[in-house]
Amino acid sequence: MHPNLSFDQAPPISVPYRFFLVAPWFGVMAGILLGWSGPDAFASRWTPEVLALTHLIALGFMLQAMSGALFQFIPVAVGGNVWHSRLVANAVQPMLVLATLLLVAGFLFSRPGLLSAAVPLFLLAVGGFVIAVALALWRTPATGMTLWAMRMAIGGLAVTVLLGALLAESLARGLTVSIVELTNIHLAWGLGGWALMLLAGVSYHVVPMFQLTRPYPLWFARGFGPLLLFLLLAWSGQYFLDEPRWPMAAGLPLLAIFFAYGGMTLWLQYTRRRKIHDATSLYFRVAMLSLLAFAISGAAFFLIPAIGADPRSVVWLGVLAFAGVFVSAITGMMYKITPFLNWLHLQRLGAPMSAVPNMKKMLAAEMMTGQLRLHVLALLLLLAAVWLPGLARLAGMAFAASSAWLGWNLISAVRRYQTFRDQIRAVALHC
Ligand code: HEM
Repeated sequence: MHPNLSFDQAPPISVPYRFFLVAPWFGVMAGILLGWSGPDAFASRWTPEVLALTHLIALGFMLQAMSGALFQFIPVAVGGNVWHSRLVANAVQPMLVLATLLLVAGFLFSRPGLLSAAVPLFLLAVGGFVIAVALALWRTPATGMTLWAMRMAIGGLAVTVLLGALLAESLARGLTVSIVELTNIHLAWGLGGWALMLLAGVSYHVVPMFQLTRPYPLWFARGFGPLLLFLLLAWSGQYFLDEPRWPMAAGLPLLAIFFAYGGMTLWLQYTRRRKIHDATSLYFRVAMLSLLAFAISGAAFFLIPAIGADPRSVVWLGVLAFAGVFVSAITGMMYKITPFLNWLHLQRLGAPMSAVPNMKKMLAAEMMTGQLRLHVLALLLLLAAVWLPGLARLAGMAFAASSAWLGWNLISAVRRYQTFRDQIRAVALHC
């Protein structure tokens, strides 16, 4: 057992798995939607298709997978006790699925009533999740920057969803708010304050442990989260201060710290003593290279308005962030967590250690690396499709196929767990 992990309070295996098994199929829906919409989908950030795709990934893929991982990670890595985790997961997860489908349908078919219907479901589901997780994160006696980053990330999720709810209600009821400014604040909290904050916090813990790197320097781990939070507050200030230069003043430093986190993680991977090239390490590399590309192109769009004015430039950033950074990093993490969960729960059945199969038997390495290759191809096609719309259908189908492969890999891992569990129980009965 790893010294930094404690398994006593780990939730039932069904808790993380019910989220993990659903997430990839939202990726499949996103790919099919793009394939079906074709060349016009990526014309600007405001097309119904882009808004629907954004939330299929942000809420269907990312929020599902990240919630499932948090239910597992909080007790195991920071010793927090999530109150009745099975009950909370059983209530929250189906509500999230339904709310996401309603919101996406509302965007796609321009039906304000559906946007409005999604709002109370999100407030209830995310509200319940945030309260349960926040209590666990505040009550744990543990310390450290991973814990602080997770606390800030949960706050970031709450802000994102409240702003999203306000936006949805504004669109549905025609409230007088500045939609573009509010959307820019909402997306910064969603991508930065929630998703990147959590990814960075979890990285401090798992990158050295799973990828055998040196730890992140203390000054970096201590500085990154608070600085990100401060810059997000400054970025949000544009809405209240109405200062035209403000977006650039907060935007460029934000991009600089994204670059610093991506660069630091790649540097730690590059300088590690034992080079392992498993799917998780490779997926993290893809994620961090995408983050560097996001930071560099974002800065170019700010500094060279002629390029930044092209409506497709924000779509380019969206593809890099969603498909490049988060889908890659999350998939890499799921490939690490899933075999480990199988092993942990089999070992808890009380069988002798020799009867519990090795973690490598839970998910075949070639299935993971094959899926990784298809994901990278899909990512490259998606990026190309932003500028060459004729590729949109192909890119969509490739993304759907790679997400389906991920879904299938996770289902296979669960089936292996069930087979080994039944074998162990059968042996126990005959002893
Ligand atoms: C929690 C994760 C979320 C993330 C990462 C996220 C991300 C985003 C992004 C990137 C955009 C901008 C899309 C674009 O410019 O093309 C956006 C817009 C929007 N989001 Fe979210 N979102 C999240 C949750 C939500 C929720 C829960 C709701 C509703 C309750 C919501 C409602 C909206 C609305 C209404 C817009 C603006 C659409 C428009 O102006 O036409 N979002 N979101």
